[in-house]
Amino acid sequence: MRATGGDVVIVGAGLVGLSVAWDLARRGAVVKVFDRGEAARAASWAGAGMLAPHSEGLDDAAMLELCAQSLAMYPEFVERLREEGKADARLHLDGILNVAYGPDRAGELHVRAAALRASGAGCEWLDAPALRLSEPALAPSACGALLVRGEGSVDNRLLGRALTEACVARGVTIVRDAGDVAIECDVRRARGVRSILGFTSAGCVVNATGAWAARLPGVPEAYSPPVEPVKGQMFALAIPRGFVRHTTWIPGAYLVPRDDGRLMVGATVERTGFDERVTARGQHDLLAAVMRAAPSLGGFTVAETWAGLRPGTPDGRPFLGPSGLDGLWLATGHARNGILLAPVTGRLLGAAIAGESLEALHPFLLARLRTEPALAARTTHS
Ligand code: GLY
Repeated sequence: MRATGGDVVIVGAGLVGLSVAWDLARRGAVVKVFDRGEAARAASWAGAGMLAPHSEGLDDAAMLELCAQSLAMYPEFVERLREEGKADARLHLDGILNVAYGPDRAGELHVRAAALRASGAGCEWLDAPALRLSEPALAPSACGALLVRGEGSVDNRLLGRALTEACVARGVTIVRDAGDVAIECDVRRARGVRSILGFTSAGCVVNATGAWAARLPGVPEAYSPPVEPVKGQMFALAIPRGFVRHTTWIPGAYLVPRDDGRLMVGATVERTGFDERVTARGQHDLLAAVMRAAPSLGGFTVAETWAGLRPGTPDGRPFLGPSGLDGLWLATGHARNGILLAPVTGRLLGAAIAGESLEALHPFLLARLRTEPALAARTTHS
């Protein structure tokens, strides 16, 4: 294990932190996860669980490849969690619909379809009658849709429960309500964390604190990732099961049906700092998008509203791997794709911390944003 001289401590018990913990525990590491609140809350709980590398329109090849790799891992990830975590996270990979309501959008989607076919990704164009059969809830003005095969959704709240249970079953210690956790460093390396439990020493500390990653106390500025919160507001409608069948992008919003008869509707994109309020404007914008695209949903009950903070980064890529300070690792900055990227983040970080190759992490190192050669060199050799 690369994390010689002590246990692994992960700060942040979201899906990303727990996924790293679970992978390391399966490799035999002693792992503790600290969170200032509950496990699998914050963005892990607030997201819709959409698994959509292509429908998200990613144009960064390294990021698209990472997302596609993680999507491919999902069936086994969820199945293992069902065995070890005793909860079925309800994975659906029956395709995502990207709906057009006019010729301009239809044209864009046809271009995207050609690119997907050229790259070998499966997709299909549904004309208006086929779309109506597939999703009768949509307005008759919907003129067609691109169905991206293999994409879908997972119930991220159930996934969080399963991952928490699976970690515990593997001997991971999860310290909830740990207060303001701080990293303790000397001039050479991270030594551990300070929490309500006092000092906990560690051979390796992982910053998996999502939108709060740049604020983790005790981290020297050079090793603090430039992550900023990007708010997403959502709401859920209580609909009859099957009323909406696919995860569906409409102009201005997306719809993600759950097996329990709830329809998750998201999400705003707001750079308003650490503000987690649900606002009239945010909800209005989402409701207006739904009422335009699928007015048949208008009579159903709004069952829940909420907001969460995505961890945004300057170039849209997460920070994965050594921070550059010995003993301090990063697993944060997953922006819109934290739930999608949880399996691959666990696998790659687990492997790297265990001493395997760092190569797959190179496009995602903090050092990519730095110009100082000394820091870049330390990062690649830690
Ligand atoms: N992944 C969708 C969102 O962040 O809103």
